Amino acid sequence: MAERLQKLIAQAGLASRREAERWIEAGKVFLNGQPAKLGDRADLTIDQIQVNGKDLTAAEEKVTILLNKPRGYVSTLKDPEGRRLVTDLVADIPQRLFPVGRLDYNTEGLLLMTNDGELAQQVSHPSHQIEKTYLVKVRGFLTAKMVKRLELGLILEDGKTAPAKATKIRTSGANCWFELTIHEGRNRQVRRMCEDLGLSVVRLKRIRLDFLGLNDVISGCYRRLTTNEIQLLKKIK
Ligand code: URA
Repeated sequence: MAERLQKLIAQAGLASRREAERWIEAGKVFLNGQPAKLGDRADLTIDQIQVNGKDLTAAEEKVTILLNKPRGYVSTLKDPEGRRLVTDLVADIPQRLFPVGRLDYNTEGLLLMTNDGELAQQVSHPSHQIEKTYLVKVRGFLTAKMVKRLELGLILEDGKTAPAKATKIRTSGANCWFELTIHEGRNRQVRRMCEDLGLSVVRLKRIRLDFLGLNDVISGCYRRLTTNEIQLLKKIK
């Protein structure tokens, strides 16, 4: 739809409408190669607008989604081995989303994806220590002594882990299920913590990120975060 030039310039975040009007009057705005006049309208999908010598493009809508990542997907934008990418699961979204942090190829569960750099920075910045809870299935049993060691911190090759909270859920045959809450996001952290305890991880699923849960988002599907959820994430200290 054609809109007044000053409105399009303001929507792109370059200036207020009044300032944009002044730019038009001052001859700083060109529409399809001709100096623009006040009152001109344009459609950014068809027309070319130049402001101060630069092409004007529509400000991209910010989108943040919560994906329930299945096993067998990499959470990078490219994979030299040609494996499936998490971006394949959000291919119907026109914006180019990138994952906030990583989940391993065989880890499932809650993964945020966004094109909002400010939100990504806020959520993944180590100083914010956002709480992450994983459902872990291991071969072996989680003993009270292991729970205590997790609380005290384990010495891994990249340093001591911050206190973690483990809650046993059930045992089945030779396996045990428990929830593990950590505040860091080191590479393969949960798997390495389990290895250190002598437990081998059979299944790993992130089920919570701070106040966000998977709820009814089924594996391979996603939902958009609400404005309120985005605001809350941006406020986490
Ligand atoms: N910890 C891991 O070991 N792997 C993940 O994907 C996430 C946390």
